[in-house]
Amino acid sequence: MLIVSNWKAYVSDTKEAKRLFEVAKKKGGKNIQIVLAPPAPFLGMLAQGNRSKISFAGQAVSPHAHGAHTGEVSAETLYACGARYVIVGHSERRKEGETNQDILTQMKNARIAGLTPILCVGETERDEEGVYLSFIRAQIQETIGALSPKERIPVIVAYEPVWAIGKSAKDAIGVEDLTQMILYIRKILSEYLPRKTADTISILYGGSVEAENISTLSLRVDGFLVGRASAEVSSFTKLLNALS
Ligand code: PGA
Repeated sequence: MLIVSNWKAYVSDTKEAKRLFEVAKKKGGKNIQIVLAPPAPFLGMLAQGNRSKISFAGQAVSPHAHGAHTGEVSAETLYACGARYVIVGHSERRKEGETNQDILTQMKNARIAGLTPILCVGETERDEEGVYLSFIRAQIQETIGALSPKERIPVIVAYEPVWAIGKSAKDAIGVEDLTQMILYIRKILSEYLPRKTADTISILYGGSVEAENISTLSLRVDGFLVGRASAEVSSFTKLLNALS
């Protein structure tokens, strides 16, 4: 089981960042592989010289590989700081104007730098006619599908319905709906990757994952992209305990 812990901008205290890292080191292991995605300065602080089983991810990456782009963090810089993954296409970044085209460029740069992209996809709302399904299809088609076959892996996909993000366990997706979505996403992936490869791509779920619902949902997915509940020591500990 893969747990990607997206601290967003919740963690602004150095000590808290170190404490969260300690929790991850204590709880991570064979069955629970943990990837921490701290704000960029904390990533640099924690991941440099990291010899633990914990891996690190950038929360976002610049579409620019290099050059005069004030405030941007390139894929190469993330790698140099110790990241081996990067979250791309998070809905909170898409809301700020990132397009599938930007995400495609970020994925290309990530790959060149040696980072595995964690591609977030998910609908804003559900409609009875199933338009949301074609929305997710387009998100995959215009990113993974637009890469050359060689560039498509490695990749991790995180299904994060926007309507479920940042709330509480009762607002998360139900088990049946999640099962259907995972099958649907895997089917789309198999249009761009050899079937065997598509079957091995990790598909994560994100959106109001808490200690209360993580073990039920874990039967359906390869892991989770967790925000709020992973950005505070006691809820992160409870969350990981619920899995073990
Ligand atoms: P949440 O966020 O766990 O706080 O809902 C998930 C995410 O946005 O990745």
